[in-house]
Amino acid sequence: MPFNLKGRHFLTLKDHTSQEIDFLLQLSIKLKQDKYAGLRGKNLEGKNIALIFEKPSTRTRCAFVIACVDEGAHPEYLGKDDIQLGKKETVKDTARVLGRMFDGIQFRGFQHETVEGLAQYAGIPVWNGLTDRYHPTQVLADFMTVLEAKGKLQGIRFVYVGDGRNNMANSLMIGASKMGLDFRIVAPKVLFPAKELVKECQGFAEERNAKITITDDIATGVNAADVIYTDVWASMGEEAQIPERIKLLKNFQVNRSMFDQTGNPDCIFLHCLPAFHNTETKLAKQFPGICEVSEEIFESKHSQVFSEAENRVHTIKAVMVATLGK
Ligand code: CP
Ligand code: NVA
Repeated sequence: MPFNLKGRHFLTLKDHTSQEIDFLLQLSIKLKQDKYAGLRGKNLEGKNIALIFEKPSTRTRCAFVIACVDEGAHPEYLGKDDIQLGKKETVKDTARVLGRMFDGIQFRGFQHETVEGLAQYAGIPVWNGLTDRYHPTQVLADFMTVLEAKGKLQGIRFVYVGDGRNNMANSLMIGASKMGLDFRIVAPKVLFPAKELVKECQGFAEERNAKITITDDIATGVNAADVIYTDVWASMGEEAQIPERIKLLKNFQVNRSMFDQTGNPDCIFLHCLPAFHNTETKLAKQFPGICEVSEEIFESKHSQVFSEAENRVHTIKAVMVATLGK
């Protein structure tokens, strides 16, 4: 049964029911099939989409642009130095101006309050392309990839290892609790998620019998895992904390030994990307020991990270089509 998400924002996943998330995932699968079949959509024909980026992006930016063009919309990239937001103009005024010109707004940036402000005042759908607290469009691509690899979400043992209180950990916990997963965060105690968010997610978990476990014990955390997921140890804006995070998280690197501890030869590896998995990048050269995943696992048959990255297009397209499409 289709759900009417027209005109709705997409900010955290907290406001979406499990049926609505299911609907978005099924729509993403359909849009992927259509694209593979060479069918070009017109669901966003004539729409103008503002893409505001305070932080850099490869996947999210490209996914929004490609999804817009695939469905006939016009995307307009508004980088942090291109617009007045935050320097000469308030969030409220920017929202009202863009709301008079555009049909939808994507925001990627620092404070979650900014995307909430845009949503409050723009009068058009606003989609969160990552804030310091949440990254909900990424979760749709992650879950779509799990569906493709495992055929279901209910009961899947999904283990997030690393910085347990960043935007990915928060959003995955919300999504997993709504979709009935056996979700675990494995992290040092100082990087456990906020207690209030865990409590909120435990509330969501009841509807679909999801399970949430937060532990610093790697062996019990990864036992029988179907999915091991990690993210960078210091998120955008936290670069000054890299040395401290390396010390805190060095034993939590996703590597062969951790995969062996799952006892599941079919366990898959996911990562939102970008990832540190070798010493080829500038930051990795500057900070030896920064790798949250070993090169071996990143390049192994377990790794589904490039399907996951591709799925950003199909899932972001689904969000725009569902909230703004004809
Ligand atoms: N996963 C993700 O959001 O990647 P980008 O930072 O490249 O957009
Ligand atoms: N936690 C990471 C996710 C990047 C997609 C960050 O915020 O930098």
